[in-house]
Amino acid sequence: MSDPILKTESLTFSYHTDEDKTAKTVLDGVDLEIQPGSFVAVLGHNGSGKSTLAKHFNAILLPEGGKVYVDGMDTTNEDKLLEIRRIVGMVFQNPDNQIVANVVEEDCAFGPENLGVPSPEIRERVDQALKAVGMYQYREHAPHLLSGGQKQRIAIAGVLAMKPRCVVLDEPTAMLDPNGRREVMETIKTLNREQGVTVVLITHHMDEAAQADRLIVMSDGKIVQDGPPREVFQQVETLRATGLDVPETVSLLYELRKEGLDLPLDALSDEACADAICQLFSAEKKTV
Ligand SMILES: Nc1ncnc2c1ncn2[C@@H]1O[C@H](COP(=O)(O)OP(=O)(O)OP(=O)(O)O)[C@@H](O)[C@H]1O
Ligand SMILES: [Mg+2]
Repeated sequence: MSDPILKTESLTFSYHTDEDKTAKTVLDGVDLEIQPGSFVAVLGHNGSGKSTLAKHFNAILLPEGGKVYVDGMDTTNEDKLLEIRRIVGMVFQNPDNQIVANVVEEDCAFGPENLGVPSPEIRERVDQALKAVGMYQYREHAPHLLSGGQKQRIAIAGVLAMKPRCVVLDEPTAMLDPNGRREVMETIKTLNREQGVTVVLITHHMDEAAQADRLIVMSDGKIVQDGPPREVFQQVETLRATGLDVPETVSLLYELRKEGLDLPLDALSDEACADAICQLFSAEKKTV
């Protein structure tokens, strides 16, 4: 296996406020390695520490205990801060908070300009990034007139123009309608598959988590499940105990299994689930 692009070792963190001297532990001994090129989803109930973990991946927050490494660089090393931020790009929930310019292409140029990239290369990067998210034809448009999904794709393009090797997205579809969600998910998957960008996707949507290669479940600042989505989602009771549900497909199969039907629990997509049920009934017909 290659060296991890993101790594945490016994990471602990708590927020200290002036009023609250006895801050509660938000990250409680997180050990994690993420391989370059992988697509990892992070699920967990509200307040389980997902966003706090994400912010450690590009040194927005620094560990209270333990270590975080980005491509082998300790995030507490100030000399490496720029390099770390170049490697890991962050996308947040609200596209309106991430868009800074009045023209799409100017917005995308903002990041590379800050990194001191020469102008002709910025032009090239912006064009490439806008093409990668399918928004090139909107390059001269005003971002605020676009749909939520389009705005979020512009925000992703702005991050891509900095040529990150890893993109961490914290609930990027939370404010989008179903079309916008689909557009953004397709964009994320294409980046991962076709450009080899490492993706860490924090989400509350089971169907989005199901599309990752690896699924991490957090509860009270700890990692409580880690594996391929089809394996993690089979732990129906464990997940429900941590305040999470499973995709509707798994929930249906789970209920049918409880009734004694011989169905797999790992048919995650709608098609696979429908196929499994059809197969069972056609097999039963034959035996009658
Ligand atoms: N800036 C802050 N100051 C103080 N406490 C904070 C701050 N940000 C988060 N917290 C607290 O830390 C805990 C973990 O928060 P975090 O945002 O990491 O959770 P999350 O899993 O991302 O939740 P959500 O699903 O709601 O986004 C929560 O109890 C939250 O109230
Ligand atoms: Mg959060």
